[in-house]
Amino acid sequence: MEKAARAPVLDNAAPAAGAPYGLKHVAIIMDGNGRWAQSRGLPRALGHRAGVEALRKTVRSVSDMGIPYLTVYSFSAENWSRPAAEVAELLGLLKLFIRKDLADLNAQNVRVRVIGTREGLTRDIAALLDEAEALTRHNTGLTFLIAFNYGARQEILDAVKAVARKVEAGTLAPETLRFADLEAGLATSGVPDPDLIIRTSGEQRLSNFLLWQAAYAEFVFSPVLWPDFDRKALEDALSEYGGRTRRFGGL
Ligand code: FPP
Repeated sequence: MEKAARAPVLDNAAPAAGAPYGLKHVAIIMDGNGRWAQSRGLPRALGHRAGVEALRKTVRSVSDMGIPYLTVYSFSAENWSRPAAEVAELLGLLKLFIRKDLADLNAQNVRVRVIGTREGLTRDIAALLDEAEALTRHNTGLTFLIAFNYGARQEILDAVKAVARKVEAGTLAPETLRFADLEAGLATSGVPDPDLIIRTSGEQRLSNFLLWQAAYAEFVFSPVLWPDFDRKALEDALSEYGGRTRRFGGL
């Protein structure tokens, strides 16, 4: 059996020495935009817009704290089933976010990676995502992963297909397969597993997010609705993490 604790192969991450609690990777399920809007008698779209503002601040805070990786769940493969107007709003916000914030992110030395399926996206969105990745690919600060049109089961299935192709080609033998062989085909290849997954709005589900990578993650469920998620809420979540003992299956 392969040992659970393994040294991950990292990409260009800065060391996490100065990061709070030695955190290398924080992942966030940004939930509660709709309820935030509804509780104010506003259309849901305005909740999503306020959510973008919370995202901006969070990227800045995480980057300032020296945490090398941040992943956010911005649009799940299942979100296509929402009403067409809401889907259009979310796609529009992503476009706007990249158009408006890319230069800033680049100036902050942030490297953008987008994980999720590009198939099915319109050409302009796919081109924007490519542009964001290309422009920032040599940046050495925070790596900011945007999970967009993302579903973990699909990601794992794609990785299994890649392994199967190598087995078929004779370059991998089934008996010698290691976790790393499958991880090489994940969208997060080269990224350390998340230490902490935060979900806002009080919901307690993973919703098809980073299923493989979450094996030893700590979970913090914040009651705060995503648009209200600020530096204080982030610090509260991190300090809850700081109180946990991680054993990775050991004693
Ligand atoms: C969950 O709230 C949130 C989403 C489905 C999308 C998250 C998107 C953003 C924060 C903005 C867009 C992102 C980018 C990268 C520009 P919900 O609608 O499920 O809220 P509810 O559970 O209260 O209805």
